[in-house]
This record gives sequence, structure tokens and C-alpha cells, in this order.
Amino acid sequence: MKAKVTLLPGDGIGPEIVQATRQVFDAVAAKFDHQFEYSEQLIGGIAIDETGNPLPEETLGACLESDAILLGAVGGPKWDDPAATVRPEQGLLRIRKELGAFANIRPVKVFDALAAASPLQPERVKGVDIVFVRELTGGIYFGTPRGREVRDDVRVGFDTMIYGADEVERIVRMAFDLARQRRGKVTSVDKANVLDTSRLWRAVAHEVAAEYPDVEYEDLLVDAMAMYLINRPADFDVVVTGNMFGDILSDEASMITGSLGMLPSASVGGRVGLFEPIHGSAPDIAGSGKANPLATILSGAMMLRLGLELHQEAEVIEHAVDRVLAAGHRTADIGGGAASLNTNAMTELVIAAL
Ligand code: NAD
Ligand code: IPM
Ligand code: MN
Repeated sequence: MKAKVTLLPGDGIGPEIVQATRQVFDAVAAKFDHQFEYSEQLIGGIAIDETGNPLPEETLGACLESDAILLGAVGGPKWDDPAATVRPEQGLLRIRKELGAFANIRPVKVFDALAAASPLQPERVKGVDIVFVRELTGGIYFGTPRGREVRDDVRVGFDTMIYGADEVERIVRMAFDLARQRRGKVTSVDKANVLDTSRLWRAVAHEVAAEYPDVEYEDLLVDAMAMYLINRPADFDVVVTGNMFGDILSDEASMITGSLGMLPSASVGGRVGLFEPIHGSAPDIAGSGKANPLATILSGAMMLRLGLELHQEAEVIEHAVDRVLAAGHRTADIGGGAASLNTNAMTELVIAAL
């Protein structure tokens, strides 16, 4: 097959992990006789530096014309001035919105070999296999009005959390469809004891659940869920939640697997999918070669499966990662210690194991 892939390296470790994943794509292309045509584009802080815009029109155009998009990460201290009106993160939020990528699929799967890398006891994390379905283009991230102003001589900041029933229905439906292909259980997470947005969310979720009597369903409050994820992570199958709760809970859940550097994601729902690790630009390790490329390489596998329908190729990448970990190879974040591999060495081992 021939496919157009837009690469958005972004900031911090973004260029390092996207470059690593590109090498994996090249190896897969050679092995399966595919042709991937890459277009590398600016997003985030580097795009602000070069064009003044965190999502230049040229980037958006290239993304819309491609078959799939791979993103590294955006942001960093250089662009973090709280008074700044233009921010790297705006580029990421806008590309998700422009693509119509309303669903962010974040699988949290523990590789057997990494059970000891988790701060949780190995018997608690063994066999954990959760998929977070995070709503991605609504909620408090996009609600208006929002802003900062002075009211009665006091500086205030405000945001609006709002969901339409249509937005809730489509994301919850996606979770149920996914659960049918898995262990048949959906957990919906909200804050319905306090928030009206959550009470609407829960009402709509129940309406959708009624159409899936074959799928087990439960509602949990987000504060309790934060605890259950540590206490009994193996109990969850598909977890559906709003934009902000999903952001927070999935970073928490990453630690079940040992590291934030392990979790991939797929932002889907529109014509072109965006594939992105869940972690950020890791400014504390950028340029040091310490970045774990696996979250992005696994996002690349999700890109091949969901974006390009290359199922076997996706599995080959996932099996290669599995084998490399099973053989004991580690980056620093997953417990490599003195024998830690750098980004390139880990990438080369994955390629060799394809
Ligand atoms: P972060 O996810 O960048 O880093 C948190 C911690 O995890 C750091 O200690 C970092 O070194 C470590 N880490 C993250 N990815 C790693 C990897 N692949 N290998 C090894 N260690 C890894 O979160 P942060 O420090 O809170 O945010 C830094 C910047 O990234 C901010 O500007 C934030 O807005 C941005 N951010 C971007 C995205 C994205 O582009 N999708 C996601 C989250 C945060
Ligand atoms: C993520 C990030 C983004 C989010 C930021 C950088 C806008 O934290 O992808 O999880 O909050 O969605
Ligand atoms: Mn996040």
C-alpha cells in the first residue's frame, strides 16, 4: 500500500521519539512492501517560534490531506509564561478539534515482563488490560465563556464545563461498541454528586446502556475511581469519561504499567486519525537520549491498525516490543538502572525484533 503520513514532532522529546517511530515504520514498510510518504510539519512551541502560530495553516492542510498523523508532544518551559496568549497546547487542542477526533483511545495494558517496574505490587498489576475512552473535543477544555478578568477588584479566572447530550452519546456508544469486542464491561466515570454536566452525562450513559443489555455497566465517581485504579485495576475493561477526568486518570493509570513513557493513544472519530503518546514533551530529559520511545512506537502500531487498516503490521510491532521487554531490555523510566538503554538503542532492538 501507499500511504501519506504526516509527522508532527513538536517540542522537547517529541522529535526524538517521532524519529524513532519513523525508523520503525520504515522497517515495517520494507518488510511488508508498503510505501509511506512522510510530510513533516510544525506544531506547538517550535511552530510559534517559526510562524507565530502553534498550528500553522500549512500543518493543518497537510494533516487533512494525509491518511494518518503521528504526533510527538508539544510544550515546554520556554512557552510557559502564564501571561502568554499564544501557547503550544492550543495547537494540539485545535488539531484535535479540526480533525473531529472526539474520541481518545488510551489502552493501559501491562506487559508481563514489566510487572516489576510498576510501583504497585506485581500481583496487583498482572493481567491489567483497560481501555480508556476519553472524550477529546468538548467539556471544560473547549467550553465558553472562559477567561481572566478583574471583578470587584479581585482577579478571577473562569472556565466552562459543558457537554451536549449528542457529544456524550457518541462517546459512550463508542465505549459500548468497544466493550463488545473485549470483556463486555463499561465503567463510566463522572462527578454526578456535584456537577450538572456529570448528571447529564450519567443520564445519557444510562440511555445508551439500555441498548446494550449484553454489556455489564457501572457508574463511578471520579474521586473513588482514582482510588480503585490503584486498589483493583484488574477489574476494569472499558472506562469512558470526559475530557479532563480522562486526562488525569490516564496519567495515573500509566503508572500501573510502570511508566508514562509506555502509553500510546489514538485520537479518532473524524476522517483522519491522530496518533499520540499520552505523555508530554518531558523537558527534564529532552536532548539527553533518555526518552522511552515505546509509547510513540506503540502509537505507531495503533496508527497502522486503526488509521491504515494494517492489522498484521500493527501486531508485528506490538510483538516486537513484547519480545524486547521480555528479553530484559529497559530504558531508565521502566527500571533499567545502570544498564538503561537510550532512545536509539531501544528503537534498534525493536526493529531487530520485528
Ligand atoms: P510530561 O508527560 O512531559 O512529563 C512527566 C514526567 O514523565 C517527566 O518526569 C518526564 O521526564 C517523564 N516522561 C514523560 N514521557 C517520557 C518518556 N517517553 N520517557 C521517559 N520519561 C518520560 O509532563 P509535564 O512535565 O507535566 O509537561 C511538560 C510539557 O508537556 C508541558 O508543556 C505540557 O503542557 C506538555 N504536555 C504535552 C502533551 C502532548 O503534547 N500530548 C501531553 C502532556 C503534557
Ligand atoms: C494530553 C495532554 C494535553 C491534554 C495537553 C498538552 C493539551 O495533557 O494529551 O494528555 O490535556 O489533552
Ligand atoms: Mn495529559
